Amino acid sequence: MKLLEGKKGIIFGALDDKSIAWKVAESCVAHGAKITLTNAPVALRFGTINELGEKLNAEIIPADATNLEDLENLLTKSMEILGGKVDFILHSIGMSVNVRKKREYTNIKYEWMQKTFDISAISFHKLMQTTLKLDAINDWGSVLALTYIAAQRTFPDYNEMAESKALLESFARSFGYHFGDQKKVRVNTISQSPTMTTAGSGVKGFDEFFGYADRMSPLGNATAEACADYCVTMFSDLTRYVTMQNLYHDGGFSMMGMSEKVLKG
Ligand SMILES: NC(=O)c1ccc[n+]([C@@H]2O[C@H](COP(=O)([O-])OP(=O)(O)OC[C@H]3O[C@@H](n4cnc5c(N)ncnc54)[C@H](O)[C@@H]3O)[C@@H](O)[C@H]2O)c1
Repeated sequence: MKLLEGKKGIIFGALDDKSIAWKVAESCVAHGAKITLTNAPVALRFGTINELGEKLNAEIIPADATNLEDLENLLTKSMEILGGKVDFILHSIGMSVNVRKKREYTNIKYEWMQKTFDISAISFHKLMQTTLKLDAINDWGSVLALTYIAAQRTFPDYNEMAESKALLESFARSFGYHFGDQKKVRVNTISQSPTMTTAGSGVKGFDEFFGYADRMSPLGNATAEACADYCVTMFSDLTRYVTMQNLYHDGGFSMMGMSEKVLKG
């Protein structure tokens, strides 16, 4: 079963083999796609993305997702390397400066908050606007970003990432309208279960919370590999009329009030 045969894509955010984007890149290639990989220049130095590039025979193009020139260069080079416009893009980027520097939500530093919004949410708008301007994606293409349910419900230690994700999801809806109207391109966000990655485990109390979410979800937490499967279906031609949606990929967590496993501890 090769759902992405003949398709070309760009995957942001593979830092190491725990990254959700790492698993998505592997699945896309296994399903027949040709891809380029990208990450921030600093992540290229500290992460292990080169291994993934070699394994998947995919070129790595550095780009700070907040920098418009980097994004233009990434899209132009990807089209050269892949031999034409792309069909899908994954935005898998998240970073909170206040979380990283351990600032409480009620004592936030606003310059850092703006930086967080730029990296974690506005970069998604910048990416889509640059893609549209350069006419870099084929009609009926698919753009995805990864998000978290803290956009809708309160999770105290998620800090300013909650607002970042709310903004990200809103960009998917608003840009999804324009992209759909002009190019038949669909834009969605996937709201993933807690996942043991560098970004995930940076949140205070993540281990306990991971277990709680697992016991609360009737299917248990969705893994990064399962998220990759879902991304592949969303990039494939089987989901061409799904757009402007926030899609929960969380084992049922988002619909739960209480579960027996949580009640009984
Ligand atoms: N891990 C979880 O529990 C979880 C749950 C739901 C959603 N998500 C989301 O999934 C996405 C991927 O995160 P992950 O959990 O795989 O962690 P990760 O740490 O492996 O990935 C985050 C990526 O963002 C990249 N990044 C940071 N600043 C950047 C910049 N300026 N330009 C380009 N890239 C930049 C990092 O280099 C890294 O590769 C994020 O949007 C995250 O919020 C994660």
